[in-house]
Amino acid sequence: MNGVVLISGGGSNLQSIIDNVSAIDLNIICVISSNADAYGLKRAEKAGIPIAVVDHQLFDSRLTADKKIMKVIDDAKVEVIILAGYMRILSPEFIDKYLGKILNIHPSLLPKFKGLNTHQRAIDAAEKIHGASVHFVTEELDGGPVIAQRSVEIDSIDNAKSLASKVLKKEHDLYPKIIHWYTQGRIKLIGNNNVQLDGQII
Ligand code: GRF
Repeated sequence: MNGVVLISGGGSNLQSIIDNVSAIDLNIICVISSNADAYGLKRAEKAGIPIAVVDHQLFDSRLTADKKIMKVIDDAKVEVIILAGYMRILSPEFIDKYLGKILNIHPSLLPKFKGLNTHQRAIDAAEKIHGASVHFVTEELDGGPVIAQRSVEIDSIDNAKSLASKVLKKEHDLYPKIIHWYTQGRIKLIGNNNVQLDGQII
């Protein structure tokens, strides 16, 4: 299945996807970054994957920038849009157009800790368990229905950095597996709030 991966930063999730592309039946048409300096672009280049930079600061609106991305997607008959550390909010037009085809990974056990700084917030809230979630993207930020999660324990010695690295390890294992479910047609977004896995709402 043809896909694009949208990034803004280091791209360690992108790397785990690249390392598994053939096993998960994914053909990465392009890696698109909102940030020209993202290390993830280097990872893509090293893997021989075409790259594009769409820096929203250079466009007059969110929609004009998103239209650039939409063109790449439409020209290449992309069937899955994979957000991997993409730090821009997508326009409603983008989300409407590709509803059910956009996946995201978020570093918390959603619906807990939507938004940023999830690891510090989990520590501050004295949580014992934290983790990562893969979900379908809908117009509600980090609010689309969850497909799968992985958890980690928060130890008393953990800080935001150590916790981030524990969670990232889980992310790298989880995301390719869920992308594979998607490329196999096993998961579908039903309406705005439900996920179907193998024909059953989960
Ligand atoms: C990950 O924690 C991911 O869950 C979040 O942004 C981070 C990206 O890390 N959406 P990387 O760029 O994949 O290393």
